Amino acid sequence: MDQETKLYPSSFNPLFNKPIRPAPKEIAIIGAGTIGPDIGYYLKSAIPGIKLHLVDVVEEPLAKAKKRYSDYVQKAVDRRKMKEDTGKAILNNIIYTTDYKEIKNCDLVIEAATENILLKQKIFDTVESIVGEDTIITSNTSSIPADRLFRQMKRPERTTVTHFFSPAWRSLPVEVITWEGGSEEIIDYLNWFFAFTGKVPIMTDNAICFMLNRVFVNWCNEAAYLLDHASASQIDSVAEEFVAAGPFFVLNMTHGNPINIETSTLQMEEGAHYRPAPILGSVDRWLTHRPGTKLEVPEDIKNTIRERMLGILFSQSFDIIDRGIGTKEDLNIGCQLALGFKKGPLDIMRNCGEAEVERIMKKFEDARSGFPQAKQPFSIYQDFNRYLLVDEIEGVKIITIRRPQAMNAISDEINNEILKVLKENIDNPAVKGFIITGYGNAAFSAGADIGKFPATLGNKEAAAQYARDCAEVQLFMDQMDKPIVAAVNGMALGGGLEIAIRCHSIVATKNAFFQFPEITLGIQPGIGGCIVPYRKWPQGANMFHEMICLARRMTVKEAHDIGMVTSISEDYSDMIQEAVKEVHKIAGNITRVPEGKVDIPEISIPDNPMAGNLALSKEAISIIVKTVKAGAAADTFAEALEIGYQGSAEIACTEAAKEGISAFLEKRKPEFKK
Ligand code: COA
Repeated sequence: MDQETKLYPSSFNPLFNKPIRPAPKEIAIIGAGTIGPDIGYYLKSAIPGIKLHLVDVVEEPLAKAKKRYSDYVQKAVDRRKMKEDTGKAILNNIIYTTDYKEIKNCDLVIEAATENILLKQKIFDTVESIVGEDTIITSNTSSIPADRLFRQMKRPERTTVTHFFSPAWRSLPVEVITWEGGSEEIIDYLNWFFAFTGKVPIMTDNAICFMLNRVFVNWCNEAAYLLDHASASQIDSVAEEFVAAGPFFVLNMTHGNPINIETSTLQMEEGAHYRPAPILGSVDRWLTHRPGTKLEVPEDIKNTIRERMLGILFSQSFDIIDRGIGTKEDLNIGCQLALGFKKGPLDIMRNCGEAEVERIMKKFEDARSGFPQAKQPFSIYQDFNRYLLVDEIEGVKIITIRRPQAMNAISDEINNEILKVLKENIDNPAVKGFIITGYGNAAFSAGADIGKFPATLGNKEAAAQYARDCAEVQLFMDQMDKPIVAAVNGMALGGGLEIAIRCHSIVATKNAFFQFPEITLGIQPGIGGCIVPYRKWPQGANMFHEMICLARRMTVKEAHDIGMVTSISEDYSDMIQEAVKEVHKIAGNITRVPEGKVDIPEISIPDNPMAGNLALSKEAISIIVKTVKAGAAADTFAEALEIGYQGSAEIACTEAAKEGISAFLEKRKPEFKK
């Protein structure tokens, strides 16, 4: 924990802090090779209005980058992922230059040149002699510690490493390195800025290769050593149990050898066992298959590959955690988001179990002596929240749902983790209450995990029980004597909205909105969504009818008008401050969900119900109408909730549910027959 607070001096959630200055308006990227232009494209996509300078020593890569940008935009527009105007704005205001003097007014300069200390130092000297005193200067190095790059600078406090992953315009994580010469304020600011622009900043200690590249480089190096026992294709095939693409396939994709001399020499400072496999020096294209190709690997070879690859993965994970290079949360999510691991290394460890991990590590020590082993009991490496960040402000525990790859959609594990945090803290007198919010600026939560739904389709009992199980968090919140406030930072959909409305109060940002899209999936809100809104805010009943039956969106203003949202904030950090105030305000005075019957207006459904241009299922809507009416007429809240669970069980057995959910998972528009 001490190490964690060192890495994250302010808060784990990067958006809690007010930035010390606005987002940069003018940014330079030095180096127009592979990753530099992609970093620039991410920045222009996030804030199309910025002025971007792409700098290189020769014209050719600049011309290529220009072409790459227009190709990216064209593809996004063709696929209707981007409006034409946005595309134009992105391509506008980009300066492709070989003249460093152009960058003099930049607020931020990111160096993305070749991995060579002397070259990089020279670039920083030049940059520092041109830009203003307050310009932030960072390096995208994947391996060189910040002190070695920046110690000669006049103002090192405005520098650090910001390490992106390929493809940098899309890959979410960015490692932001904390180092003794960099100012905490600047590092906090960068952390905020990356989250503000849609990335997942990961605060990492100033160790050689940082955190995620350490995993990647050693994973690939171990694969290269295994070539004594198996072919590249066999190794990739076995590795695909854990990663989307095997190490040799990835090495081929990187067009060059990322385990370069620089990285290897640096790593060897930590011991000769980090020596690169000699074959890496002589091969730059590997003979392997496309990921997913079936390949029979003899059992003994398979076991050797599997155990060695897991050995290196676990060894690096232990080392990263024991030395405080990164947090367990970040290591686990970072490997998934940046390196394509199907599960985080600590999840893989959990699945193996303690005895198996011990066995693998013992064999690994025999085969590859010298690598780090676990320094703490197995349980310590497992003791963390996979999907939550937990911060504290003024005695209020703030739970952030962090699952950015699925817009913070709520899985069973997230539900369990939320419940665990609430239960752990509910009796602690120092904890005054709770806030629940979502990671990033876009989503509080995009709903319950739709991937889980098919398992209950067509099975009434299973569907009802699943709804009851999911409702455990809500039922716990209902009876809590300490306040819990939802801080809705963007879209709150479906199951996410069902968590928000069950909190004792809701605050929101101005970009928040609320929606029950379930009917577009042929289902209904199953965890109190058809029941709770009518009881808590009966004045909004007509709007709730339209939301539940027709997937109508409720704006944050509409939510405020009916008293559902108590305050609307300009930005994330203001919203959290409001939420903290709200917790203190309602402490000792929590309003419970009303019991008894509630009068609701008639529900009128158009002859051809539509949500946008999607024709909805009348059969599904009729089940929802029945549920809503019966729920409102129930004598107690508990009875009403059960009616809701039964309704969602009934709807789970319709053709509409089957079609709607399959269509979402197959990424197509549903066609409801009745
Ligand atoms: N469950 C599981 N995954 C979800 C999800 C959910 N409720 N909502 C979004 N995701 C995933 C998507 O599948 C996608 O994953 P992928 O990148 O692996 O394909 C990722 O989050 C990003 O979503 P995407 O649809 O590509 O983004 P978008 O900006 O085009 O659309 C939404 C965003 C929220 C409008 C859209 O994802 C959506 O309609 N989600 C379902 C919302 C819903 O019906 N919720 C109610 C369920 S109770």
